[in-house]
Amino acid sequence: MAIDTPATRPANPRFSSGPCAKIPTFSLDKLSDAPLGRSHRAAVGKAKLKAAIERTRDILGIPDDYRIGIVPASDTGAVEMAMWNLLGARPVEMLAWESFGAGWVTDVVKQLKLDATIKTAEYGEIVDLAGVDTDNDVVFTWNGTTSGVRVPNGDWIKPDREGLTICDATSAAFAQDLPWDKLDVTTFSWQKVLGGEAAHGMLILSPRAVERLESYTPAWPLPKIFRLTKGGKLIEGVFVGETINTPSMLAVEDYLVALDWAASVGGLKGLMGRANANTKAVADFVELHDWVDFLAHDPATLSNTSVCLTFNDARITDGATFAKAVAKRLEAENVALDVGAYRDAPAGLRIWCGGTVETSDVAALMPWIEWAFQTEIAALREMAG
Ligand SMILES: Cc1ncc(COP(=O)(O)O)c(C=O)c1O
Repeated sequence: MAIDTPATRPANPRFSSGPCAKIPTFSLDKLSDAPLGRSHRAAVGKAKLKAAIERTRDILGIPDDYRIGIVPASDTGAVEMAMWNLLGARPVEMLAWESFGAGWVTDVVKQLKLDATIKTAEYGEIVDLAGVDTDNDVVFTWNGTTSGVRVPNGDWIKPDREGLTICDATSAAFAQDLPWDKLDVTTFSWQKVLGGEAAHGMLILSPRAVERLESYTPAWPLPKIFRLTKGGKLIEGVFVGETINTPSMLAVEDYLVALDWAASVGGLKGLMGRANANTKAVADFVELHDWVDFLAHDPATLSNTSVCLTFNDARITDGATFAKAVAKRLEAENVALDVGAYRDAPAGLRIWCGGTVETSDVAALMPWIEWAFQTEIAALREMAG
């Protein structure tokens, strides 16, 4: 028996967790001011790169004495640059609760070969933050993109810590409050919450991180693409837009356009409000249906960007196949693209709720999830005869 499809479709079916939906007002002609075919070191290119840095500072409320650099290789580049430059000076604690954090653990243990303390939690959980010693260097992911779990606040980070906090905030920046006084290194990529283009990473350094860079030389070699100091001094140019290598000025223009849009919806507060409203639309749906749950176990750690859902129904025998079939139906109907759970995460759906997504689209998607779920359950029943 076919189940009726809902009457309304999301106007934009893009709910991918990266690259994320572009700003609602996006069109390619908005990028026409990009200085294409010009040197990024010409005055016009440099001014664009500097503007990207300073407008990031304005919208995110980053303190004036923090350095902000545009670096190669997206968020991964920024995180690895930080770890390769800074770690090894003090004991290290690595915190991980999903796939990307686990990747940073592998880097530190297998590549840098540091004898780090490793604290991990299962998907849906977070580690005991109160037990973390921030006199050690601590590497962690603020928002676990593949588990939908976020750090609730920075209360566990000592104001007078001896260590550095290195925070991968790629799916948190522009959606969640980041306590800058507690973060020594923060990274994110343009392709996440602002729906920008991939390839470039943002590296934000506190004065204490700069102090470490200028006083410590790691035991391992650093390729040019990672080098932030010269003759023991910070290369200040990187933090005013003199990038280490050639950036895409098209991607820079796109980021500037996204920053303008962010300002137009009320800056960080407006963006957080949009993400929270989107997440509430999902939460209202979860509340009403006992066959769907958040992967995040504690509401205090529920992400408002990468919202991960699991199906709980005794009739489902193979969770992974079932969830994939639901995601496939949503995609085939063009109501939700790229919403399957991440490949290493528990089976389910992941709905991006960052600020570039419209709440009306999230709300319109919910009945479709019910439709796809019930249709798959009916198919299971038919198969069972
Ligand atoms: C938490 C986290 N860290 C790192 C990455 C890697 O980002 P990129 O591909 O932009 O380097 C992602 C991408 O989804 C992520 O979600």
